[in-house]
Amino acid sequence: MRVTVYGGRRLFGEIAVDGAKNAALPLLAATVLTDDEVILENVPDVGDVRTMIALLESVGKRVLLLEPGVYSIRTERELVGTPPEELVRRLRASFLLLGPLMARHGSSQLPLPGGCPIGVRPVDLHLKGLRALGAELSSQGGSWGARAERLHPAEIHLDYPSVGATEQIMMTAALIPGRTVISNPAQDPEVHDLARLLIKMGAGIMIEPGRLQVEGAKKLSGAVHTVIPDRINAGTFLIAGAIAGGDVTVTRCQPLHLEALLSKLDELGITVHEHVESVRVISDGPGSFVGGRVEARPYPGFPTDLQPQMMALLSVARGSSIIKETVWESRFAHAAELVRMGAQIRLEGSTALIEGVAGLSGAEVSVNDVRAGAALVLAGLIAEGATVVIDRDEHIRRGYRDLVGDLNRLGAAIIEETLTVEGSVTAETR
Ligand code: EPZ
Repeated sequence: MRVTVYGGRRLFGEIAVDGAKNAALPLLAATVLTDDEVILENVPDVGDVRTMIALLESVGKRVLLLEPGVYSIRTERELVGTPPEELVRRLRASFLLLGPLMARHGSSQLPLPGGCPIGVRPVDLHLKGLRALGAELSSQGGSWGARAERLHPAEIHLDYPSVGATEQIMMTAALIPGRTVISNPAQDPEVHDLARLLIKMGAGIMIEPGRLQVEGAKKLSGAVHTVIPDRINAGTFLIAGAIAGGDVTVTRCQPLHLEALLSKLDELGITVHEHVESVRVISDGPGSFVGGRVEARPYPGFPTDLQPQMMALLSVARGSSIIKETVWESRFAHAAELVRMGAQIRLEGSTALIEGVAGLSGAEVSVNDVRAGAALVLAGLIAEGATVVIDRDEHIRRGYRDLVGDLNRLGAAIIEETLTVEGSVTAETR
């Protein structure tokens, strides 16, 4: 995909946010815990979700699209414990299937999806939890096998509040009668959303600060569940309004999930109005707000998935800023691309030091991961001339249904073109 952004246009209007990709993925994985029909609503139409649906079909689930965003999932044939490697490798979150498939089928086998542009992505906390629940784990040739020899409830402490490990352990424990306790679990809204589905399916789950308790059941049943709004996409559009200048309202979102971002934008001197299910941002664009300090931390800290977008914003703030990334060990690849556009950024380990500049200049930049792609498009909104964002692996489409179309509907001037294998281009203006 090649995205050409013509800078200098302010953004005005409303944008409704889709369901959260990072909630939909574990919710889809949880459907393997029952043969009954599970209906999921407000499922976002993004690449990662399509891959997870293909994975479910490959292990024996029937997935029906009832209407846009509404899927019916139920078991169609005997579940298979080993999804195809080429699908697993496409999606990091496929690892969430290891425990649930093992608990339902008796055994499962999943190749490690490998590292990705933001870090090694270890799974040691996932494995520690499954072992504690009695799973027999074995690894051969880069893939992990799990056998449900004698599953039993357990008390598990997570050295780090890993989102994926919390979800993996919670889903598996939901099918193990008895009380499992996870201490130091992730507290993200997406974890709470998964807990709500598991409760509807028949598990007992209680989450309090620092502790997550699961009362597992021998059998789980079907349910109907609506995916929460995507706080990261909502935050991306709010930062777009802040950087470009104008007056943007993001609707169908949950401001409560955005507190860290909203208070940071306010601290920078950007006008933010919170309503029950919408947030409005009013800004005069580059140079109209001051720099500040951002520290990406586990929820409810500032979300790491909005760190690249904030780096674009702070590049054109008045004064200097500091960004500290404490979640991923290498999530600054977008810094070099912003520097190509004239940003003044210096990296020191997991800290980025930014000197605000009056403006950026269009350049050809490349996309490293889904949120870096969004950040570079946002930088293009205010760059002089045209910014060509090359996204060969279509990272942006993995997390955003139609980032270009949505920004154009707010007044941006962006052309999206599909890059064929030879690199030629078919224009596709939205
Ligand atoms: C989820 O990834 C999100 N993905 C990520 O969003 C997000 O950046 C991340 O949480 C942090 O908020 C989905 O939900 C599908 P983690 P996850 O396990 O679960 C270390 C996006 O852009 N760790 O909380 O993989 C790990 O190295 C993506 O949508 C271990 O050490 O994140 C990292 O430093 C990018 N051992 C930290 O924890 C483990 O077993 C956070 O990882 C697992 C993780």
